Amino acid sequence: MNVIMLGPPGSGKGTQSVFIARKMGLTPLSTGAIFRKNIAEKTELGKLAESYIADGKLVPDEVTVNLVKDSVKGTDGVILDGFPRTVAQAEALETFLKVDKVVYLDVEFDALLKRLTGRRECRKCGAPTHISLGFTSCPQCGGELIQRADDTEEVITKRFTEYEKATSPLVEFYSKKGNLVRIEAKGSIEEITEKIFEALEK
Ligand code: AP5
Repeated sequence: MNVIMLGPPGSGKGTQSVFIARKMGLTPLSTGAIFRKNIAEKTELGKLAESYIADGKLVPDEVTVNLVKDSVKGTDGVILDGFPRTVAQAEALETFLKVDKVVYLDVEFDALLKRLTGRRECRKCGAPTHISLGFTSCPQCGGELIQRADDTEEVITKRFTEYEKATSPLVEFYSKKGNLVRIEAKGSIEEITEKIFEALEK
């Protein structure tokens, strides 16, 4: 099964992908995480992506589509976190992967800012957590927790604007195709994982 996680910044795509991937034996693939790894390693892709990400903008479609096309080769069931993010990316995806379900995490915008400014991420495995959960190291692998460079209020505001403009039309795009599952993503992380799991099992 191939699954897309769709939702605004901070809706829980990364958090839920980790749990759903483990529960269902899928390969998690986060374009944001791949870009951040490349930025840390100062690769050519990282240098290119950094200029967009630091300004809350999307990395150009062509770069991102090719990255995902390469990354899904040889996989047997993936969970895509953060891709597609534009209608052009969604149309390109159709040419190389069959999408079975699109999980849309629907969260009120007011809750998102608090989630994002308090987010911490593992330097080693990239798993997100939140300061309110009280972890001093990564609950998944014990790695060091750091704050993402794009989790400042200024950049978060720009990311919300990009989401509204470029990504939110995908809700209608996939609704029309009939494979969108809308999850009301408030409540505990465990409750939401359960809701997603039930929806995917149907
Ligand atoms: P990306 O890394 O994909 O960022 P994003 O979409 O902005 O999403 P986030 O990672 O911020 O949020 P999330 O929904 O994963 O939430 P999380 O689970 O962490 O992309 C970064 C950048 O890369 C983009 O801005 C763009 O420039 C570029 N990029 C990436 N993909 C691209 C593409 N396809 N095309 C072009 N450019 C691309 O949760 C957030 C916080 O909330 C955490 O602290 C978590 O612990 C907490 N939390 C989660 N669930 C709950 C809950 N139920 N209750 C309370 N807290 C919760």
